Amino acid sequence: MATSRAEQKRLESLSPFELKNSLIELANDNVKLEAVTMLNAGRGNPNWIATEPREAFFLLGRFGIEESRRDWDEWDGVGGMPAKAGIAQRYRAFLQANRNEPGASLLQRSFDYGVKKLKFDPDAYAWELADGVIGDHYPEPDRMLSHMERVVHAYLVQAMCGGKAPKQPFDLYAVEGGTAAMCYLFDSALINGILNKGDTIAIMTPIFTPYLEIPHLERYQFDVVELKASRFDSEGFHTWQYDPSELDKLADPKVKALFLVNPSNPPSVALSPESRAHIKRITETSNPGLTVITDDVYGTFVDGFESLMSTVPKNTIGVYSFSKYFGCTGWRLGVIAVNRDNIFEGKLAKLPAKRKAQLNERYSSITLEPEKLKFIDRLVADSRQVALNHTAGLSLPQQIQMGLFALFDLLDEQRTYQETCQTIIARRMHALVKGMGVKLPKDPHAAHYYVELDLMNYAERYVSPEFASWLAQNFEPVDPVFRLAEKGSVVLLNGGGFDGPEWSVRVSLANLRYESYQDIGKWLREIMEDYYAEFEKTSGGTSARKAVGAKKAVATKAAATKAPAAKSEATKFEATKSTATKAAATKKAAAKRAPVKKAVAKAPVKKAATATAKKAPAKKPTAKKSTARKTTARKTTAKKAPAKAGSKR
Ligand SMILES: Cc1ncc(COP(=O)(O)O)c(C=O)c1O
Repeated sequence: MATSRAEQKRLESLSPFELKNSLIELANDNVKLEAVTMLNAGRGNPNWIATEPREAFFLLGRFGIEESRRDWDEWDGVGGMPAKAGIAQRYRAFLQANRNEPGASLLQRSFDYGVKKLKFDPDAYAWELADGVIGDHYPEPDRMLSHMERVVHAYLVQAMCGGKAPKQPFDLYAVEGGTAAMCYLFDSALINGILNKGDTIAIMTPIFTPYLEIPHLERYQFDVVELKASRFDSEGFHTWQYDPSELDKLADPKVKALFLVNPSNPPSVALSPESRAHIKRITETSNPGLTVITDDVYGTFVDGFESLMSTVPKNTIGVYSFSKYFGCTGWRLGVIAVNRDNIFEGKLAKLPAKRKAQLNERYSSITLEPEKLKFIDRLVADSRQVALNHTAGLSLPQQIQMGLFALFDLLDEQRTYQETCQTIIARRMHALVKGMGVKLPKDPHAAHYYVELDLMNYAERYVSPEFASWLAQNFEPVDPVFRLAEKGSVVLLNGGGFDGPEWSVRVSLANLRYESYQDIGKWLREIMEDYYAEFEKTSGGTSARKAVGAKKAVATKAAATKAPAAKSEATKFEATKSTATKAAATKKAAAKRAPVKKAVAKAPVKKAATATAKKAPAKKPTAKKSTARKTTARKTTAKKAPAKAGSKR
């Protein structure tokens, strides 16, 4: 190993996103030495984009420029500002004249949708589109353009609320992605006394690392209670769901806020309806003042997804980002949603008089009635230090592109785009498990954007407790990710860094081509084989005999669940989507093929990297890291990860 255990231990205190940079360094060396293509499967950036809404945006841009020239065309290279009068008629004529251009159909349908379904005034709507796309005004209203807000609202109802409109609408604030949403929310919650320094907050883990790190910053110093996704199914597989006893921690009114990512990151599993109902009961009984901040970036990857925004709208602040689903991380598009019927205005009204007076003073430059300023409008003002409220808001072209993404999905009645995205991911999942020679159970709550592979649980359960404790004693939990980087040039993130199981790894299924996942699966398998070979050398016969027994069962199960390799790509995918049912049908026949794997050393890998490794009966042999990860500056040079070339995505 190029990286000593002591060095690994030192690096373990970093966020996985920073540790990744060290791994990339190793992997790059490997590329140089061995000409192996580096596979950075740690990244959550998707490698696909939604094309049609972008085509619509660019075509709309041409209309915006035409309107600008129409207003003022005296100077070369200079235009005026689109005029509202008669613009709807001109827009229709433009769309008719360009009806064969890429994006024209979506623009036409989007316009009809706004006018007919949302009852927009045609001129006002067309003007917002034309003026917004060329970006010739400061955002007005600053929170969000009014037509785009209605459009995105409709999208959120469809995508985040299982199609059920809330009793009261959400107010939306368009922001620069989920990243900005988080910054603004932590900030304003503290400024406005929704949360106070030192408060007790709950975090559902495993979780996206900023939610673990921000609460410990000096200005917050929150007392963090973790709710762990500790559930296993009847076969002992991780479900990444929460026991009622974990959720009951929220019943204590001392817990002021709950932060969650739903579907989670890394496990990528949506909260079950039972858990949502449980949280709802708690907010209706013992802890009505609980603030819920839910980050639902991955919701669109689960059919019929319903967020806590929909289940407990009064208590919830919703964060949604367009980044992942539409492949637009570079656009920086997100929204914060606060229901009009919420607990936050009540909290502001109940603040101590002194605090209220201070806040009134703070916002007095932007309204004559600061005490009536809604929480969401305070968020907008705070995002620009109040003093720059008049230039606040997300850039208008960004808002227009956001609206077009939303319209594109709203108008996709056959759900073609969503299915395509899900298919892309499912095929990669298929390739990964094929490489590993394992199967993952079907879970309707799974988004599969990432998969969290629990290596230690497998070692304990499927090989032997001796093998597991040998691993724990001799290696750091991050050792597998270092081995992968050094040996296979694969960069994964360590799941322990997300406060998931220490020996788990996160594989993003979003950012590499199909073939790469086969390689990752294969390399993961080899890593486990290497461990096992080392273990055999040091431990002698007893453990080996146990492992032989384990091997048989594992090999049989693995072979039984193998997807039919000889089929066409399309059929392969079919097989992946219905692995659970197909596996049952082929189990008998495949069981006959099971003894194919002979070497004992090969045994563990048949289940080694399963994302849903069996529940470990023994207690974890490694010490759990605290959530208070060191957040000191730690920039290293991140190099670009070239995706492996190949025809299939
Ligand atoms: C849960 C979660 N929230 C927010 C973000 C950041 O998203 P954005 O690109 O919208 O800033 C990510 C990115 O990985 C994420 O996983």
